[in-house]
Amino acid sequence: MSEIHPIEPIPSPLQEQPDFTVPALLQEEIGELITHYPNKRSASLMLLHAIQQQFGYISRQALEWVAGRLELQPINVYELVTFYPMFQQKPVGKYHLKVCRTLSCALGGSYELHEHFCRKLGLDPQAHGPQTTKDGKFTLEFVECLASCGTAPVMMCNDTFHEAVSEKRADEILGECQ
Ligand code: FES
Repeated sequence: MSEIHPIEPIPSPLQEQPDFTVPALLQEEIGELITHYPNKRSASLMLLHAIQQQFGYISRQALEWVAGRLELQPINVYELVTFYPMFQQKPVGKYHLKVCRTLSCALGGSYELHEHFCRKLGLDPQAHGPQTTKDGKFTLEFVECLASCGTAPVMMCNDTFHEAVSEKRADEILGECQ
């Protein structure tokens, strides 16, 4: 007789959010959204986007809630959250700066641009992963190709795309973040 193994807990570095509650209106919208798909699982990415839009990131509690809503195991949702870089696993600043570090942008000065932002924001240019300023206003991180390699160096500030960003333009972008 084969041995039954208990479900392993997720080796989750995801942030805890003990007060996680999905507002009634969002619950309704999510219920409606699920009906657009032939099976619940297909709605996974859309649900994660909706939750991230509401809370700013995907916490462990949010991940478990999404899994429950879609009748999946938490690990099925965890795989998505950790695979797609657009999902945040921790709270991010009000302004999220993403600097492309792939080849064209690296050659076009994106490392210098990242360093410039670090100097301006008091962050560590050697640190790995996203960094957030102490006041929670800015999160800075390197990302991979933003699909505009001909206009390097390229970056995003929240949903706004910026091309051929010089240090002067970087300062203007920071100044526009009020
Ligand atoms: S390498 Fe930066 S946009 Fe493609």
